[in-house]
Amino acid sequence: MAETLKGLNSLLVHEGEAPDPVTGSVTPPIYQTSTFAFPTNESMADFMNEQKAGYIYTRLGNPNFTVAEAKIARLEGAENALMVSSGMAAVATALMASCGSGDHLIAHADIYGGTFGLLHDLLPRFGVETSFMDLRDPAALGAALRPETKVVYLETPSNPTLRLADIAAIAEIAHSRGVQVIVDNTFATPVNQQPLALGADAVIHSGTKYLNGHSDVIAGAIAGTAEFILACSDVARKLGGTLNAFDAWLLGRGLKTLGLRVGKQNENGQAVAEYLATHAAVREVLYPGLPSHPQHLLAKRQMKGYGGVLSVRLQGGQEAIDRFLDRVQLFARAVSLGSVESLITQPVAAVHRFVPPEFQAMGGITTDLVRIAVGIEDADDLIRDLEQALA
Ligand SMILES: Cc1ncc(COP(=O)(O)O)c(C=O)c1O
Repeated sequence: MAETLKGLNSLLVHEGEAPDPVTGSVTPPIYQTSTFAFPTNESMADFMNEQKAGYIYTRLGNPNFTVAEAKIARLEGAENALMVSSGMAAVATALMASCGSGDHLIAHADIYGGTFGLLHDLLPRFGVETSFMDLRDPAALGAALRPETKVVYLETPSNPTLRLADIAAIAEIAHSRGVQVIVDNTFATPVNQQPLALGADAVIHSGTKYLNGHSDVIAGAIAGTAEFILACSDVARKLGGTLNAFDAWLLGRGLKTLGLRVGKQNENGQAVAEYLATHAAVREVLYPGLPSHPQHLLAKRQMKGYGGVLSVRLQGGQEAIDRFLDRVQLFARAVSLGSVESLITQPVAAVHRFVPPEFQAMGGITTDLVRIAVGIEDADDLIRDLEQALA
């Protein structure tokens, strides 16, 4: 739809959908089907020969995927997008479309624990090696690139220490050596940051988080050039990790309020970060929206908002952390982030538990770190809850 639509919230509501031409249903029907019938054998042949658009089998595509893909592609400023069954499927699919045996990757040291496991434990079994490095200093990248390096992979802000990488500077160095840059834009969302406009080649998302936003779907997305998305579709179809119609429909519905939700989460993140920065029990607050963040200037340049995730280093050891986490009432003690409700977790106890200590150290993931993902509740209530829990 609608090249005329320019505003983010208009795009989120209208892109990729219109009232159903058969019934007038204002919301897209859920195409809960595994297979699609063709009116004639010839029309099936035309579809197979790519002379006719359509659907044949949900592992290969479904109208509910198309709605979400159209919105995500437009939001990220990409030629095309692909929905897959999880954020991990998105990372794996994008990397398998880019690399093969003998290739080398460079990854930001501070990344989601599951992604670390994929790069560190699984991909080497298929001949793909990863060097982990601190990409906060883009100048260090040049020396680390090898002739066989195919991808620089980064999260910015990173999970869980909210470190940033300068996407434009990294893309310039990588491109000068023919290397592709893939950015996990889960934390920022396209509302706050558009990596493709900064020079990245492709973006991946855990759609489980902000894109869906309601803690009821596991999904992933990849956005990039039409050529790259075609290569990713080929991998995804062969791996079989495609999404299902109902989850794609829920995600399409969740996307309609992404701008409103992220706007509120930016406000809540900033308010909670500023409050915690003044609290005696808190040693350090990691949030790109605070002037004390070492890369605050980069955040201002590269991001339109600073998001709903912050991490804090607490005083008082494990006992103090247990007490704090056990006392919060509004925040659910749960992994994940980006949803309407606020969540809290100690990374070393859960998501980053299996990241080896030397890589935890490189990523700044210490035992005193607590990650807070604010929802869309009222900031005053969140602060009151944190205050009583820290008292
Ligand atoms: C930044 C980031 N990327 C990717 C993933 C993986 O996403 P999923 O759990 O949807 O597979 C996560 C999950 O927490 C994440 O935080």
